[in-house]
Amino acid sequence: MKGMKKSSDELVTELEEMRARVAQLERAESELRRVAETLQQSEMKFRKITEKSIVGVYLIQDELFRYVNPHMAEIFGFEVEDLINKRGPKDVVFSEDWPLVEGHLKARLAGKMEAINYQFRGVTSSGEVVHQEVYGSRMDYNGRPAVIGTLVDITRRVGLERNLEIQLKKFQALYHLAVAMTAERSVEKSLALVVEKSRQLLGADVGFIALRRDDRAGLPFRTVSGARTQDFKGLKLPPATECEGNAIQTGQGEFLNGYFHKLEQAFPDQIHAEGLVSGLAVSVNIGVTNLGILCICDRSETLYTESQMETLSLMGNLAALEITRRQAEGALAHSEKQLRSLSSQLLTAQEQERKRVAQELHDGIGQSLTALKFEVENAIRKMSDNSTPIDWGPLQTIVPHIQDVIEEVGRIAMDLRPSILDDLGVLATVGWLCRDFQRTCLDIRVEKLVDLAEDDVQEHQKIVIFRVLQEALNNVAKHSRARLVRVGLHKKNGRIELSIQDDGVGFNCHAKSTDATSRRGFGLASMKERTRLSGGSLSVKAKKGAGTTVRAIWPAAAEGSATE
Ligand SMILES: Nc1ncnc2c1ncn2[C@@H]1O[C@H](COP(=O)(O)OP(=O)(O)OP(=O)(O)O)[C@@H](O)[C@H]1O
Ligand SMILES: [Mg+2]
Repeated sequence: MKGMKKSSDELVTELEEMRARVAQLERAESELRRVAETLQQSEMKFRKITEKSIVGVYLIQDELFRYVNPHMAEIFGFEVEDLINKRGPKDVVFSEDWPLVEGHLKARLAGKMEAINYQFRGVTSSGEVVHQEVYGSRMDYNGRPAVIGTLVDITRRVGLERNLEIQLKKFQALYHLAVAMTAERSVEKSLALVVEKSRQLLGADVGFIALRRDDRAGLPFRTVSGARTQDFKGLKLPPATECEGNAIQTGQGEFLNGYFHKLEQAFPDQIHAEGLVSGLAVSVNIGVTNLGILCICDRSETLYTESQMETLSLMGNLAALEITRRQAEGALAHSEKQLRSLSSQLLTAQEQERKRVAQELHDGIGQSLTALKFEVENAIRKMSDNSTPIDWGPLQTIVPHIQDVIEEVGRIAMDLRPSILDDLGVLATVGWLCRDFQRTCLDIRVEKLVDLAEDDVQEHQKIVIFRVLQEALNNVAKHSRARLVRVGLHKKNGRIELSIQDDGVGFNCHAKSTDATSRRGFGLASMKERTRLSGGSLSVKAKKGAGTTVRAIWPAAAEGSATE
């Protein structure tokens, strides 16, 4: 027993050891408390930082979020407590991107990679897709591996990038289109290009341009792309259908919802075969003048945006520019052709005129002068023969011949430049032309009505009035078979107006001049050109069987400046 008992020394030693251990334990406990406090402080700091952070912070273990900061919950439209220990990454990742995210999570948990940076698409509690960039790493949590990381919401950036990409694509398409249009190609091909590009840019199934014609009865399709049937391509939109009406009235555009349903009532087979459901229409306008519409349409329900409408409007503007450019080119080519033909005819006419004047000088004055010379020589010979008394008879017969020559010269001069115009003025000249016409064309009655003063007509306009009246009366004599011609010269509503109206056979003045007809005469063209060059405009109104009216109009001179 004695051996079992501890000596008092031993007990004392043991007691001291225990005291020392208790002291040690107390120190350890206070150290632990200090560490716990420090830990608590740093956790508070961590929370403060993460809770105010503008990036999402998360910790994932066992496929559940064990920690998320408020911003992380906010990104996905949840409260913090909806996520922690209740939901995992699979609940907030867009299904198509889950394999990618899952792969990365597993690789990190397995220690295959320490840190990672990638992008994925998430889904919010309301089903909205949000774009995220993740910076993740691995850590030990409660003695087991966990995944920790931060998320940056890049939805706005991705949206802007996408928008930029779309705008760039739009710009490129428009640029290429504009370049392509400068190439020498027909208007049909250019419009087909506009329709094709519009379809491509807006991803539509079908596109078309329908343009109005002069007769204004509906809008026939001009260019169609993507249609299934020929019947559809041959359609002519009835006038003032809803889409045409609105697109044209607002001058902007129209979202075509339910439009094809209405159109199907007018064209059941064609519209049914195409199966069109929705679309967009914009007017093809130059200024306020409407030329038609540009449409793109889909076989499925498509919600188009305002920005797409703007894109289509740009394409519509391009189409309008192209059409007017081609029209202007056509008109220019036509007037160039007319001008060439006119100047060549003018040259011919000038030559003919010279020939005529030379002939008249030769046959008229030349002959008369030869006869005169002969008679004068005869008279001189007789007078120099002193044997006979002087006979004045032959000399006296010369006088009427000289008078003829004077008149002949006057007639030729009058044809070349009417001196009456300079001597007596335009009113007297108009009167003289009418009297002259009446003298030669006995079957046609001339009625003249002059209702202005000599001073109302500007000096440079007088010769034009003379030439226009001369040519118009020539035409009446040559072509009209009229019984009456009315010649008017008026000043009204601040304009000087010359009109020559006959009741003859008329003609089709709208017939396009072919090469054959344009060579026929140049009287009308020359009247128009002279009037235009003198600051006026000339119109010809004629109809087969209903007479002809030629009307030339000039703006009247301001008071006090009529004669320059
Ligand atoms: N008053 C008119 N009545 C009927 N037809 C007319 C009349 N004026 C012009 N025309 C028609 O218009 C055509 C063109 O007239 P225009 O004066 O340009 O040529 P032209 O008289 O035939 O020849 P040119 O004047 O060169 O000698 C004529 O050929 C004629 O058919
Ligand atoms: Mg003529």
